[in-house]
Amino acid sequence: MCGIIGYIGTKEASPILLSGLKRMEYRGYDSYGFCFLNDGKASLFKRVGKIDNTEKEFLGKDFVGQIGIGHSRWATTGLVTQENAHPHCDCKKEIFVVHNGIVENYKELKAKLIKEGHIFESETDTEVIAHLIEKYYVNNLEGAVGKALRDIRGTYGLAVISTKDPEKIVAARMSSPLIIGVGVDEFLVASDPSAIITRTRQIINLDDGEIAILKKDGFCILKEEKEAQKNIETIDWDIEQAEKGGYEHFMLKEIMEEPSVIEDAMRGRLLEDEGLVKLGGLESVQDQLRKIDNITLIGCGTAHYAAKIGEYMLEEYANIPTLTDIGSEFRYRKPIVNKSTAAIFVSQSGETADTLAALREMKAKGVLTLGVTNVVGSSQSRETDAGVYTRSGPEIAVASTKAFLGQLTILSLITIYLGRQRDMSIVTGKRIISELMKIPELAREILKQKNEIKKIAEKYKNCRDFWFIGRKYNYPIALEGALKLKEVSYVHAEGLAGGELKHGPLALIDENCPTIAICPTDSVYEKMISNIEEIKARKGKIIAIATVGNEEIEKIADDVIYIPKTLEMLTPILSVIPLHLFAYYFADSLDRDIDKPKNLAKSVTVE
Ligand code: F6R
Repeated sequence: MCGIIGYIGTKEASPILLSGLKRMEYRGYDSYGFCFLNDGKASLFKRVGKIDNTEKEFLGKDFVGQIGIGHSRWATTGLVTQENAHPHCDCKKEIFVVHNGIVENYKELKAKLIKEGHIFESETDTEVIAHLIEKYYVNNLEGAVGKALRDIRGTYGLAVISTKDPEKIVAARMSSPLIIGVGVDEFLVASDPSAIITRTRQIINLDDGEIAILKKDGFCILKEEKEAQKNIETIDWDIEQAEKGGYEHFMLKEIMEEPSVIEDAMRGRLLEDEGLVKLGGLESVQDQLRKIDNITLIGCGTAHYAAKIGEYMLEEYANIPTLTDIGSEFRYRKPIVNKSTAAIFVSQSGETADTLAALREMKAKGVLTLGVTNVVGSSQSRETDAGVYTRSGPEIAVASTKAFLGQLTILSLITIYLGRQRDMSIVTGKRIISELMKIPELAREILKQKNEIKKIAEKYKNCRDFWFIGRKYNYPIALEGALKLKEVSYVHAEGLAGGELKHGPLALIDENCPTIAICPTDSVYEKMISNIEEIKARKGKIIAIATVGNEEIEKIADDVIYIPKTLEMLTPILSVIPLHLFAYYFADSLDRDIDKPKNLAKSVTVE
């Protein structure tokens, strides 16, 4: 989510780090920073905002040295402030760390380190890494980094430098991308190839658990304290492709990130043995939440569909009467609320004008307001009483994909949270958590079918009308599938609750109008089959999204995309993935401007 770069070599580090970080800026970072080492002395520079006139600020100052690290931040823990920008350092300002990832147990570690006398300057999880390295430092930096990482639970891609051991950069990786660039008389480390591609195309991909030590005259990579043999690969992408992680479009890159988005949303929040979830952002209102007896969920577009699925989850598992509305409708209705209402606002950007207007309306009525938001420090996250961040990382493509998966994951966590405050049993809590933990792997299974889904999308590329049908948890997925298809391909598509077909839309079904039927093996499966038969009887083509093992469906559907079995309430998290891929490949076959569809903006900040 954040951008990392490090340089050690025979050139001045500042222009190299600066241009590397600038090349990662397309992701919309909120703050940045550098640290350079020169003659054993460190110079630290941090700013909020975009990297604009930094060159001028560097000129004539002390920011010199042939070793340095840089970071562009996309806030996850702690607001967008200069103190929270990386690099972070230890008490004596001798050890400097840039980090991408999440330290799940940072609160416990921080409390322990404070008791031991460490003084913290930021709200971030990263700062504990610097203090742990300080605590364990004996002879060399890599030894202390190795020990510090043993205390950490979570994910990291990190680069560390120190005035105590000033001739090296130590880098380490755990479930967060990190590459080493091998240049001529110089070595680089980066989270993203786009940061270093102009200096070298020779790279080594670090694997989980590996620690790299970069010096001016060479490097070594350690795994479990032994030297690891690694292959040097050559990147053959151009800069534009490198920004997209080698994918042709951000939309596809972001769809491919969906499994890790689900993981990141859950990280550190599941208490498996107790069937509970820990949501730090709701702690301040936990007693108020015990007393609420109705919920209103609000969002726009894709976020509204996530909210609608949240409604089904909350009613079924938390036993709380719940309503969902669209921001633009809600703001002009006469909402009936009371002291026991909680309003949950779902938004990727946290800046959607209609959602914010609904939030302000609810606040004016004295209702408890909660946010499910991706962007830390956004208007929504500042104005709600409490909330949970989705941690989906920057979403660049205008069409929302991975953020939707983050929203669904958080809504399922909120369901467990509120359910366990009420009459959800420990057994049910544990069951949902254990199924949730399997979801990222199951999502990866679906993504492996991307080439088959591409073929299906291309097969229907001449169709100009599509229906999407689903019921119960997958009704909002039908709406999302249709929205995604129309916005990126400009082809007409409509989502519908399966039961509504016979009330009118059946009149439009014919052999030129295919229907995507989301029909996993769940409590409404038989009903979906009846709807599919109604369509088949009118010569409509069917693309079914069905559960693995359901061979019967092949007899009635023209094409089938299989998804793995999971708990009914979690099926939308899986069933939407093939629909995101279908929309992407369909639009690509029509050569559309996928990442920036016409007439649309990423964040709708006007009414
Ligand atoms: C659809 C899409 C939009 C957004 C909507 C809300 O792909 O991106 O429908 O979901 O504009 O935006 P946020 O979530 O930022 O409030």
